[in-house]
Amino acid sequence: MAFPTETVYGLGAGVFNEAAVKRIFEAKRRPADNPLIAHIGSLEQLDQLAAEVKPFARVLIESFFPGPLTLVLKKSERVPLIATARLDTIGIRMPKHSLAQAFLKACGMPVVAPSANISGRPSPTTWKAVYEDLNGRIDCILQGEATEIGLESTVVDCTSDRPIVLRLGGVSLSDIETVSPDVEMGGSTDGTPLRSPGLRHKHYSPKATVIITEKRDRPQPTQKSAFIGTSEWGKGFERSYIAKDVTDYAHTLFEFFRECDREGIETIYCEAVPESGIGAALMDRIKRAAHG
Ligand code: TXA
Ligand code: MG
Repeated sequence: MAFPTETVYGLGAGVFNEAAVKRIFEAKRRPADNPLIAHIGSLEQLDQLAAEVKPFARVLIESFFPGPLTLVLKKSERVPLIATARLDTIGIRMPKHSLAQAFLKACGMPVVAPSANISGRPSPTTWKAVYEDLNGRIDCILQGEATEIGLESTVVDCTSDRPIVLRLGGVSLSDIETVSPDVEMGGSTDGTPLRSPGLRHKHYSPKATVIITEKRDRPQPTQKSAFIGTSEWGKGFERSYIAKDVTDYAHTLFEFFRECDREGIETIYCEAVPESGIGAALMDRIKRAAHG
């Protein structure tokens, strides 16, 4: 069953129900080596999932739960290996979206949920996007509004002696630094093995070619080209979205990609933004869409 959160829509199954978890991988066509995030409705559920919560992880929980932050912790024996792609760790997050909270409370157990899209496609930020990808493959969609943040949660590995950011998202690096100054960026691009298996896979891609553009480049509109960014000069493309600010840009990006696909757009120009706050997560997703 799909449900909205403040980041993107998720596709949920009870974490201890192995048959249901298996169906999630099938419905999404998700590679079996990509672990799922468990969503909790209350902090008491942490003990069912995590074997160890280090003091710095407790600080992150106190500061950012509920919210767009996922912590990777040593998993408890009870969590089936299919949910974590055979890892001995599990990603855990407590959404703050009211419908997500009501859903999780009604379930009465932790719910694993990847983004509710076919693997490789942009994450769904509207129930219609979920329907577009998964109609006929899942039982139902809990219908809510468009998601507020529009990018996924920040994933932080808390299994070593300091927090390591594996994926930037709704909580920024500087937010984390305020409570945990020794936080590090992980999942580097220098060829060392990635700790977050999902980052190996193709992600967030529309069918169109994505090109990152700076203000000074000012590409000329061509047939079947589109623009998204914060600068007025982007008007005049077959489709364009001039965002109010970087937050609005992040909120809109994935649905914009999908709209372009529906219209047969062939080239999408995405304006680069400063890599601070939500801008860092936004540029991460745009770069992945551009470079596959
Ligand atoms: O905002 C979100 O996080 C959304 C909503 C639905 O909560 N969920 C989401 O799930 O984006 P998904 O499955 O699309 O992305 C989960 C990411 C993947 O990159 C995965 O590899 C990583 O988290 N991940 C999950 N468990 C992990 C673990 N035990 N160790 C390292 N990385 C993990
Ligand atoms: Mg996903």
